[in-house]
Amino acid sequence: METVYFNGKFITKEEVKISPDDRGFLFADGVYEVVRWYQGFFYDLNGHMTRLKRSLRELRINWTDTDSFPDFAEKLIKINSLENQTAMVYLQVTRGAARRSHNFPKPDVLPTVYAYAWGFLPEVKLKETGIKAMLKEDIRWSRCDIKSVALLPNTLSFQEAHENGLKECIFVRNGLITEGSHSNIFFVINGTLYTHPESNYVLSGITRKNILRIAEDCGIKIREEAVEENRLRFVQEAFISNTSAEVMPVTELGGNTIGDGVPGPVTRIISDKFDNEINSLKG
Ligand code: PDD
Repeated sequence: METVYFNGKFITKEEVKISPDDRGFLFADGVYEVVRWYQGFFYDLNGHMTRLKRSLRELRINWTDTDSFPDFAEKLIKINSLENQTAMVYLQVTRGAARRSHNFPKPDVLPTVYAYAWGFLPEVKLKETGIKAMLKEDIRWSRCDIKSVALLPNTLSFQEAHENGLKECIFVRNGLITEGSHSNIFFVINGTLYTHPESNYVLSGITRKNILRIAEDCGIKIREEAVEENRLRFVQEAFISNTSAEVMPVTELGGNTIGDGVPGPVTRIISDKFDNEINSLKG
C-alpha cells in the first residue's frame, strides 16, 4: 500500500482529501519540487530547498514548515521500502483552499502540502544512444524561473513530442533556445559548453547548476549564453539535464542530426564525472 504525506500526516493515497476549492485545483496556484534518492541519500537537497523557498517566496505562499521537507521526504522513502532503490519524491505546495476569487484569501489559509515517493529504473540505454527532440516556439509565460505547477504549455508541448516519437520538446523564444519542457539544454560548440543563462525564461535546474560546476572542474570552457536556433548547424554536441535523466545526450534536434548523431566526447566526460560524483557520495 502506498503511503503519502499530506498536510503533516502519513496516510494512504486513498485517504487524501483535497478541497475542490483548493487554489492548486482552481488556479494552478502552487509550486513543486522533484528530488532524487540514490539508494541512501537525496542528491543536492540543499539546492532543491533553496529553489523551493524561492518559488514559494515569489508566489507569496507562506508555508512555515518548509524545513520539514528533508525529514518527511526521507520518511516517505523508508515507509514505502524504497531505501535501497533509485527513487524520487514529488512535493507540491499550493496556496490552500478558499472560495474562488482572483485575490489571495484574506486572512491567509493554510497551504496544502502533498508529497509521494516512487521507485524507478534509470534510462541507461537511452544514455548510450541519445534521444531525439523537437523544437517549438516557447509558448510559456515569462516567469519560467518559478517552479510552478502551471505546466500546461509544457505538457501540451511534451505531448506533441511524444506523439511524434520524440523524447523532449525544446523551446525557442525570439530565435534563442531556452530549455526543454522538463529539462535544461546544453550545447557544445568548438569545445565550449553553452547553456541559457539563469533568467526568467528558464528554470534554474539543480542538475544544470551541478553540471556547470563539474564542467568547470574539468577545465571545460563555459558560456552561460543562449544559443540561437540558426546556429544549430554549428553545434557538435547537445544534451539535456534534469533530476531524473541527469545528463541525457541529444543526437537529433528539430529534425537535424547533432554532430555525428551519437553522444559526443564532452557530453561523455560530463556524464561520467556526474556518475563518479554520485558513486563517491554513495561511499
Ligand atoms: N522538471 N526546466 C524545466 C522546465 C523543468 O521542468 C525541469 C525539471 C528542469 C530541470 O530541473 P532539475 O535539474 O532541477 O530537475 C528544467 C522536473 C524533473 C519535472 O517537472 O518532473
